[in-house]
Amino acid sequence: MSAIANTKAITPPDVRARKGGTPLVCLTAYTTPVARLVDPHCDVVLVGDSVGMVLHGMPSTLGVTVEMMIMHGKAVRRGLEQALMVVDMPFGSYEESPEQAFRNAARVMAETGCSAVKLEGGETMTETIRFLAARGVPVMGHVGLTPQAVNTFGGYRVQGRGGDAERIGRDALAVAEAGAFAVVLEKVPDALARRITGEVAIPTIGIGASAACDGQILVVDDMLGLFGDFQPKFVKRYAELGQFAGAAITAYAQEVRERRFPAAEHVFADAPKGAHATESGEAA
Ligand code: KIV
Repeated sequence: MSAIANTKAITPPDVRARKGGTPLVCLTAYTTPVARLVDPHCDVVLVGDSVGMVLHGMPSTLGVTVEMMIMHGKAVRRGLEQALMVVDMPFGSYEESPEQAFRNAARVMAETGCSAVKLEGGETMTETIRFLAARGVPVMGHVGLTPQAVNTFGGYRVQGRGGDAERIGRDALAVAEAGAFAVVLEKVPDALARRITGEVAIPTIGIGASAACDGQILVVDDMLGLFGDFQPKFVKRYAELGQFAGAAITAYAQEVRERRFPAAEHVFADAPKGAHATESGEAA
């Protein structure tokens, strides 16, 4: 066993120290190849419970389990060298008590090798965040629109446009005071996100919030144009990979039907007499 930690890797204290500095670049990832793609460019890679909707076709994040987060977390771990890896605690795995949260967070950290967890909720979660942070579990908070509470909110509407603006501000402050190293602000008005960013001592990471936040996060499949079920206003599509993939699959289907694939360069000739097969099974 090696006792040498990866000294290149970004840590929760490194992220905490970026308050007010160069904006933190954060994306989600759920698989090894995507983790490899985003790692060189990101400060934080989140294995979000959005995986349930994005990769598993679930209607919300509520059906995501600890086992799913561990499976995707392990895959992402294999693709990261430098970004801080954070794994979402899924619905039902932390709300009951600080002890329940610790048990599941410790399992997620031990089995995936992530350095921190994220959990949703403000003032109601402060006891849990304090409990975890004091026991070696760095916590990223998440306030504003918290998708696991979709049934309580009655949808995915912008939060903090009315009387609840004060509550969201208090939530962010409470999460910071409880010991979170950063907090996601989701789908709140620009002015509120700016105000909260100025008030809390930890970095705010915006999604549908404000350019004034200390960092930004997007779901990687959204910004690559791979997730087409719906497109929230706050998503900028930096590519249309879904369209590229559709065109490629159409071309493949046509070539197969017309017997144009496989072509001569994709098939194997008989082995010349006396030749030995290589390890890959191809004739030398
Ligand atoms: O699950 C997720 O992907 C998230 C981010 C979008 C913040 O919580």
